[in-house]
Amino acid sequence: MGGIRLKPMSQPMRTKWKFFLTSLIALGALFIPSLPTFAETASPSPSPTPSASQVVSPSPSPSASPTPSPTASAPPVINPAPAFDINKASSQAVVVNKIRPLKPITYKPRDLVYYNGVALARVTSDSLVKLAFGMKKAGAGTLRLNSGYRAYSTQSFIYKDRVARLGLKAGEALAARPGYSEHQTGLAADVSAVGQGCVIQVCFGSTKAGKWIAANAWQYGFIVRYPNGKTPITGYQYEPWHLRFVGIEIATDMRAKKISVLETYWGLPAAPTYLY
Ligand code: DAL
Ligand code: ZN
Repeated sequence: MGGIRLKPMSQPMRTKWKFFLTSLIALGALFIPSLPTFAETASPSPSPTPSASQVVSPSPSPSASPTPSPTASAPPVINPAPAFDINKASSQAVVVNKIRPLKPITYKPRDLVYYNGVALARVTSDSLVKLAFGMKKAGAGTLRLNSGYRAYSTQSFIYKDRVARLGLKAGEALAARPGYSEHQTGLAADVSAVGQGCVIQVCFGSTKAGKWIAANAWQYGFIVRYPNGKTPITGYQYEPWHLRFVGIEIATDMRAKKISVLETYWGLPAAPTYLY
């Protein structure tokens, strides 16, 4: 009939293709040792910087993009802006802090991807791989993933350990109670760089990698969630290693508006302490 038909390949053509594919695989094998240490799959090019038209205005959803009432002059809404739901645990825009526990409190993401026992939500891992490539390409180091998704029970263990070792005030400034941690969403990643030291320490912010991350993470949809000097709002000490995936649109808009914390961005109250 009228359909396209493919001709079977000739023997010389098959040999050429075989050689081409074998070369590709060999190249890949050469490349893999220099991949980020946690990379499962890789995509070497970072996501392009979004254009101004992709930048969103902060307005907590579900009513983030109200449908205009139809009038004769109004064009139809063909591609409405995505709704950002700051309340839903599975949303990449979710805001979790000391007064905004996860619902349900034992929430577990469905789409976890594991790297040597450390898990992340797929959207976080895909973007972190891109960030790692960008960091490597910029000569800022090889990214290492130290902690990602933490189950309620794991967070409980970490919280109790930090409070036991540091006391209630310092412990709670460093570790969230179970059900109150971004790590439980799979959207948070504690990172360091191979050979640069300062692993999960404030001095990470002064390393080559830490500086590059602070300046460039937004391009990949990440923010440094607990910036220096924002403890009265976030409730946590400066954590230059703790990256939170929020998506490129939000991260770009926060940068454009010079807003560093989610509470301010979404017009939410500060969360310095727990309510009880
Ligand atoms: N270190 C961050 C605050 C957490 O425990 O979730
Ligand atoms: Zn963290």
